[in-house]
Amino acid sequence: MDIAIIGSGYVGLVTGVCLAHIGHRVICVDNNQEKIKRLRQAKIPIYEPGLDELVKKYLKSKRLSFSTSIKEATRKATVIFIAVGTPARQNGEADLTYVENVAREIALNMDSYKLIVEKSTVPAETGKRIERTIKLNLSKKFRKGNKITLDFDVASNPEFLREGSAIHDFMHPDRVVIGVESKKAEQIFREIYKPLKTHMIVTNISSAELIKHASNSFLATKISFINSIAQICDHVGADVLKVAEGMGFDKRIGRQFLDAGIGYGGSCFPKDVEAFIRLSEKSGYHFSLLNEVRNVNECQRISFVKLIEDKLWIIKGKKIGILGLAFKPNTDDMRNAPSIDLINMLQNEGALIKAYDPKAMPNTKKCLTKVTYCKDPYELAKGCDCLLLVTEWDEFKDLDFKMIRRLMKQPLVFDGRNLYHDKNLKELGFEYYGIGRGQI
Ligand code: NAD
Ligand code: UGA
Repeated sequence: MDIAIIGSGYVGLVTGVCLAHIGHRVICVDNNQEKIKRLRQAKIPIYEPGLDELVKKYLKSKRLSFSTSIKEATRKATVIFIAVGTPARQNGEADLTYVENVAREIALNMDSYKLIVEKSTVPAETGKRIERTIKLNLSKKFRKGNKITLDFDVASNPEFLREGSAIHDFMHPDRVVIGVESKKAEQIFREIYKPLKTHMIVTNISSAELIKHASNSFLATKISFINSIAQICDHVGADVLKVAEGMGFDKRIGRQFLDAGIGYGGSCFPKDVEAFIRLSEKSGYHFSLLNEVRNVNECQRISFVKLIEDKLWIIKGKKIGILGLAFKPNTDDMRNAPSIDLINMLQNEGALIKAYDPKAMPNTKKCLTKVTYCKDPYELAKGCDCLLLVTEWDEFKDLDFKMIRRLMKQPLVFDGRNLYHDKNLKELGFEYYGIGRGQI
């Protein structure tokens, strides 16, 4: 099938490459000319495991191409996925400016049947607005009075991939959700996703849009729930890892997304929870549960800093080493990374920050100055009064803590992701604090 993807960021690029991988001909579009120039040379703007090999492979076989022209892509493709950003506006609502712009441009260039698909995360009813925008902007030759003579469909096909495992998630989804208003659109989706041999949930557009918002909000709720439990664990001498294990064996609950830590970050959960709160308000419902999910998440970072302040005594002038900067492992994405909040809070108290991350340092340098960036964890540890584990990269699991102990000024480790729960750093002479380990 001939498919166009408009917006070649994390979602657009991964979707485009994976659709090429399962046999389709894909043209990926972006209005960032420099990005497209580099992608044509198989230079990938993001770090996502496995992505560059696939881009190279399908560029070479010509099943994948890149363009800056929505016109070219609209003419070539039958199915057009909109995968542009939907960032938060000042008031927390989703900003749909890019979606509207793209819908208009598609309409202006349509000359035959098209299936226009929302891939971006958008509030319920955006599908209706896209349809209206397309009708209003179609060329005159496809109108007769009030009637539209060109057949098209709008559909929703929300994306559930996670950064860091995006290709695997796309190729092995738990489900594919499609929101359609016609049999023709449903048939097209069935053909597109046939090679994935996955369960397909077919519903109307508003339900599909809501499934995405509800899923992200529920996952964020699980995280805030376990973080609340972790707070109690610390005070009653319980271990959150055991509590999560004990809860997780109940199939109705499940172990996933019960990892207590310094709270969720990234380009999606914070923005999507906020947008869902706004959407609920607009529809007359006060979603107080989600307000609390957000509040708990914010408090989690503050209480981590309070713990550091308590144990370090004086923060001013202390050298603090940050292990991991990205919002999660296996990505270089720094959007809404918890490390940014932590570093800002500690710098405000006068701390001197050193940091190391395997992939995210180039992006961090754009948003955090006054940080000393190090080439590895050992250079980081040198002269530090304490270490903070912020992102649980695999390469941090088996560090030589004997050497780290010798390099540090004071043997203090604050583990914001409970990565070292089984390492017994105390035996190596460290004062060690995890999250919710019943230790305060
Ligand atoms: P992104 O910022 O990485 O990519 C968006 C791209 O769209 C950018 O490259 C931008 O240049 C391009 N763009 C903007 N306006 C354009 C236009 N008029 N024409 C062509 N290109 C244009 O964003 P992302 O992380 O890929 O997220 C995209 C959407 O997918 C968001 O709604 C997000 O919530 C959703 N989503 C993201 C993830 C994720 O893991 N990042 C997962 C699921 C859903
Ligand atoms: C999340 C969802 O998992 C995807 O299904 C969804 O498609 C995506 O958002 C989106 O809509 O964009 P992502 O943000 O890439 O994916 O990463 P996650 O693995 O969900 O982690 C998000 C944040 O939650 C990270 O900061 C992570 O450290 C934190 N987290 C996750 C926890 O603190 N505890 C957990 O148990 C799990």
